[in-house]
Amino acid sequence: MTTSSAPRTDRRRWWWALWGLMAVSALGVAAYAVPPYLSGNPADSNVPIDPDVALHYLSLAVHAVPGGLALIIGPSQFMTRLRARNPGLHRVAGRIYMISVLAASGAAVFAATFSLSGLSVRVAFYLLVVAWLYTLAKSYRSIRRGDVRLHQIWLIRNYALTFAAVTLRVYLLVGLQLKRSFTSLPFDEIYNASAWASILVNVIVAEYFVIQRASVPSARREAPGGHPVTTPAPAR
Ligand code: HEM
Repeated sequence: MTTSSAPRTDRRRWWWALWGLMAVSALGVAAYAVPPYLSGNPADSNVPIDPDVALHYLSLAVHAVPGGLALIIGPSQFMTRLRARNPGLHRVAGRIYMISVLAASGAAVFAATFSLSGLSVRVAFYLLVVAWLYTLAKSYRSIRRGDVRLHQIWLIRNYALTFAAVTLRVYLLVGLQLKRSFTSLPFDEIYNASAWASILVNVIVAEYFVIQRASVPSARREAPGGHPVTTPAPAR
């Protein structure tokens, strides 16, 4: 009994630690990155703004605010106990998350088109938009069909893409530290590499979690909240 429950407790602790790190970093990035776009002043932007395109700053603002909301809401949706105790709240938060992703991705198309960061970065962001919308549509369709397991899998993938907003900034920070030692490193290259890495690494990590879930018998799966992650959610 003690021997079989020990790995389970370890797994639960591991999940909580990961979940906490994800929630805190999501909150931190939203709190740091979004406010410059609430002031209405293009001079506050953290990325260069094209002075000839009036819509550039606006598109960033319309992108960043719902993007930040999706980033903050996401982690709570993975909390099994919250979902089981209050399925209504899970549903409402899920709808707000969906609307936020739709609004943020629509504005991201404009932000990417106006971006002064170069073609490669633009292509990375267009791809991210397509993947963001595709995974959102798949997660929505699966829950409408009542397939909770598939809904969770597609949301792991979707939130991994939302979370690219966090990892992009982590890579940028690391890149800027490297630039202190290697002063010849151009900022544009750091930004470009960070944008692509934030997408590709997050996709790989998401697939790792999806495979992990598939390899653990459903009755033994644990997620933040302590219940098996397969606790049925309402099929709506
Ligand atoms: C996952 C899909 C996302 C895509 C496709 C995307 C796309 C973009 C694009 C194209 C830009 C302009 C970059 C430039 O001009 O070089 C941008 C900037 C920005 N994005 Fe996103 N983004 C995504 C997610 C998010 C999320 C979840 C947030 C939440 C915080 C966010 C917050 C911002 C902010 C604040 C900026 C302005 C740059 C800065 O101040 O750091 N984005 N994004």
